[in-house]
Amino acid sequence: MRQFKTESFGRVIKHIQDEVDFEPEYYNEDYLDRRISARMRRQDVDEYDDYLEVLKSDDREKEALMDSLTINVTNFFRNQEMWEALRPVLQELTEDNRRVSVWSAPCADGREPYSVYMLGMDDRNIDESRLNVVGTDISDEALENARAGTYETTRTTDIGEELSLLDDPEQYVDVVDNEFTVKPELRDAVSFERHDLIQDEPRRNCDLVFCRNLLIYIDTEFKIPIFETITDSMSEGSYLVIGMTETIPQELRDDFDPVNKRCRIYRYTP
Ligand SMILES: C[S@@+](CC[C@H](N)C(=O)[O-])C[C@H]1O[C@@H](n2cnc3c(N)ncnc32)[C@H](O)[C@@H]1O
Repeated sequence: MRQFKTESFGRVIKHIQDEVDFEPEYYNEDYLDRRISARMRRQDVDEYDDYLEVLKSDDREKEALMDSLTINVTNFFRNQEMWEALRPVLQELTEDNRRVSVWSAPCADGREPYSVYMLGMDDRNIDESRLNVVGTDISDEALENARAGTYETTRTTDIGEELSLLDDPEQYVDVVDNEFTVKPELRDAVSFERHDLIQDEPRRNCDLVFCRNLLIYIDTEFKIPIFETITDSMSEGSYLVIGMTETIPQELRDDFDPVNKRCRIYRYTP
């Protein structure tokens, strides 16, 4: 196990590694500390060793910590500017008479891969019937939510607002009170699978890969294995989208041509 800033913090990490269904080694220390400290505040505990005792004695806290660590915050059309910039890419990819393979990794509760297909349906220049969209994530719970396709407007999440990029959102979701359920046609068009971007095999021949808002949490040494999984899944000319605050590791930059630098859309040119 790597060295952490204090021994007591290292003991919490060791316990997570042994007892919680989560691999802390992949993630950077600041990220781990932020998530653990947030749980400590909720438990009204100041010291890592005291928190360790709570973790050992309370299975519900173990689950709450697991939820906090696999942060699966997402949106429909997260960073709308990027989705606007993606329209011509999806148009170009669906122009030819062939299947277009799209991989959203990680997809969290599915709003990202559903957004791709919704945009395809909503934009008359994109032929969504060509799209084969798969969402993958390491979290089984996130995937279950993704397959169910039901999202709720709450105090902090406005699903109607998230869908506002579409001309006609009600064509794609059934709305009952605060609940928005993706229509069966869309649920059938998008599939979900469990996949660990660090340990599992690449996919094959993806034309467009989204890998957004995971790299920011990952320890530097695991970014390259993630990129290897991604690039082994792509062919020359495929597209990659990363998160708006993320970067391609220095040693791989020559392999990617920016299509839209600000929106982090790249073309793979190995
Ligand atoms: C913040 S969400 C990003 C969702 C979406 N791409 C977006 O940008 O809105 C991060 C997701 O990464 C998943 N994750 C964490 N480690 C992973 C790994 N090693 N392989 C695949 N998914 C992982 C988490 O379960 C979580 O759902």
